[in-house]
Order: sequence, then structure tokens, then C-alpha cells
Amino acid sequence: MKNGIRVAIVGVGNCASALVQGTAYYRRTGDVTGLIHLDIGPYRPGDVEFVLGIDVDARKVGLPLAEAIFAAPNNTQAFERDLPPTEARVIMGRILDGVAPHMTQAGERGFQPADLPQPGKSDIVAALRQERVDVLINFLPVGSQAASEFYMDCALEAGVGVVNAIPVFIASDPAWEARFRQRGLPIVGDDIKAQVGATIIHRMLSSLFSARGVTVERTYQLNTGGNTDFMNMLDAGRLTRKKLSKTEAVQAALAQRLEDENIRVGPSEYVPWQKDNKIAFMRIEGTGWGRVPMNLELRLSVEDSPNAAACAMDAIRFCKLARDRGEGGALIAESAYFCKHPPQQMAEEAALCLLASRALPHLPQLDAAE
Ligand SMILES: NC(=O)c1ccc[n+]([C@@H]2O[C@H](COP(=O)([O-])OP(=O)(O)OC[C@H]3O[C@@H](n4cnc5c(N)ncnc54)[C@H](O)[C@@H]3O)[C@@H](O)[C@H]2O)c1
Repeated sequence: MKNGIRVAIVGVGNCASALVQGTAYYRRTGDVTGLIHLDIGPYRPGDVEFVLGIDVDARKVGLPLAEAIFAAPNNTQAFERDLPPTEARVIMGRILDGVAPHMTQAGERGFQPADLPQPGKSDIVAALRQERVDVLINFLPVGSQAASEFYMDCALEAGVGVVNAIPVFIASDPAWEARFRQRGLPIVGDDIKAQVGATIIHRMLSSLFSARGVTVERTYQLNTGGNTDFMNMLDAGRLTRKKLSKTEAVQAALAQRLEDENIRVGPSEYVPWQKDNKIAFMRIEGTGWGRVPMNLELRLSVEDSPNAAACAMDAIRFCKLARDRGEGGALIAESAYFCKHPPQQMAEEAALCLLASRALPHLPQLDAAE
């Protein structure tokens, strides 16, 4: 009998909420609307089981995972409120640099670290082993370099595959990638893309300009939102890698790289009343036939966290599939398709072709002898 996929979530915030709710929704209803892929190898979305949450906020630690995902300051939509009870709980994590000082001064809307003993590496490793975790997904706040490295060490020791959904460079860092390869553990990363988000639209439109011979001269993508992700990113010091990740994703889709002064891509403002609704404003200026200028403007409005959860659901299943096959190290096509800062950037279609040949159901293979 096929086993399910046992998943631990580090950072039980809005993305975790959308992912857990969505998984329960697809299991309960059998609906397929909104899925990127129904089947990945033998796995359907309902095969994903969340067995452990790790967080540091007093309003979440100690709760069943099914309750913690609705606790403040999470503010994404509750589209699947009544989750079936499971054993999965949220345990205390190690704070390190996960909580920025300004986040503790924002009252209800910010983070409230629990006044509890913080676990060491051996405690987290023991929890991962006890829950027989297959895949750990990292949903820590942007800028959590030390905290991410701590949990990556734990995953390596416990023998767990990883989806690194945040812009701390692990899969795309050669030294970290080598550690996963040597340990025979798969990793998909870094910085999960959205299902249809600003990055993929910006990449597609940039490719379109390039493919039609229009030289992109300047571009920006300005994002606003009202969740803790946007509040956290008010600290410019935590943003370096996020900006790099988002900017490189767009640069890679252009025929020619733009000078730094001609490209601005990144989170731009925290607007509390927007909650988990993210609005992206995009502009691309180009030069076409006869050097005549043109420009395009676009406004995208999306619920931020479900948008990320759709990609996370597939990345988790590809990670488990690689684990079943004994593959270690960064999964190149999976990382390129589902993440903004993979070890190797690829056009979406090229990455999808590779994925399809690895794990997606396709037309019956023609027998070579026929
Ligand atoms: N929403 C998207 O579309 C999207 C896309 C790509 C990447 N991401 C990234 O995913 C990450 C998660 O986003 P989110 O919206 O869920 O964020 P969030 O702020 O809602 O959740 C972060 C959670 O991490 C917890 N935390 C902080 N320090 C911790 C520690 N040391 N150990 C354990 N838990 C800790 C917080 O208490 C909080 O519950 C962010 O880095 C975000 O940039 C999101």
C-alpha cells in the first residue's frame, strides 16, 4: 500500500495556514479546481499529512496545528474552517533571528515570542524522528538566516527532505547543496513561487518582449500587502536576499540583463488593511521597431498565501518522490519550476518538460518496437 507524505512545517504563519486548509479541502471534496497538478507520481494532494508544526509565537505553540493556523497574527482567508482533528501539534522552536525586533513592538499584529525553554538541535531532531517526518517545509520570516540554517542542520541529521520556501539560500548555495547530496536527501528551493503571482507574470511578460524583439529598457514591480510577511520586510536589512531572489527571477527571463538602476523589483509597502491581499504594480518600458518606445502597466491583486500554497503542495510531493527514488541534493527542474531562486534558472516550459518526464502522468508511451 502507498504511504502518505508526513510533513513538518517550520513557521506556522499564513502560508502554512493556506497549505493545511487547502490540503484538507481537496481531501474532503475531491475537487480539482485550483490544483497545479492532481497526480505527482503516486501522490495526490490528499496524501499529504501534516504531522508537526514548529513555531515560537505564544499564541500558536502548544496548540493543535489545526487550531494554530487560525491564530493571530495570521490573517489569510479561512476557506476551510472545520478541519478534522489530528494528533499534530505545534512545538516550541528556536528563535535565533526568526523574530526581528520591530515585529515584537507591533502588538497583536506582530510576533509575540513564547517565554518557554528553547529546544536544541537534538530536541528538534528527536521530534522529526518521532513523527517519522518525510519532508520539512521552511516558512520562516524573510531574513531568518541563522534560524533556517539551524532547522536545515536538524533536517540533515534526522534524514528529512526539505522544501525551502523562503529566500535564504540553501538549495542554491553550493556548500549547503553538497551536504544534502552527500546525505542522500532531496531539497527543493529556494523561495517558493506563487501559482500566478507577480514574479511569474513579470517573467512571462519579459520573455514575451524579448521573444518579439522588443528590448526591455526599464522595469519595476512594486508590491504592497498587509500580512506579517510584509510587516517583517519593513526592515530593509532583512530584505537583501528577497530582493535578489525576485530580481534575478526577472533578469533571467530577459534577453539582456538590465543595469541595476533600470530594474526595481521587491516588496514596497505594508498596508495593514490589505491583510493577506497582495497588490503588485508592474511597469515594463521597451523599444520596438524603428526604436519607437512602448510601455505596459499592470496591476495584480491576489490572496498571497493560497497563491504560495499551490506551489508548495507540488514541491512537497516532488520532494517525497525523489526521496522514494533515493535521490539526494537539489532537485534542479523542481526548484526551477517552483522557486524564484533555484540553483539553475530555466524557462517555465523547459522546467515543466523535465518534470513531466520525471513524474507527471502523460500519454501512454509508444512501444519503440511498434
Ligand atoms: N506568500 C507568498 O506568496 C510567499 C511566496 C514566497 C515566499 N514566501 C515566504 O514564505 C515565508 C512565510 O510566509 P508567511 O506569509 O507564512 O509568513 P508569516 O509571517 O505569516 O509566518 C512566519 C511564522 O514563522 C514563525 N517564526 C518566527 N521565527 C521562528 C523560529 N525561529 N522558529 C519557528 N517559527 C518561527 C512566526 O511566529 C510565524 O508564525 C516568508 O519568508 C515569505 O516571504 C511567501
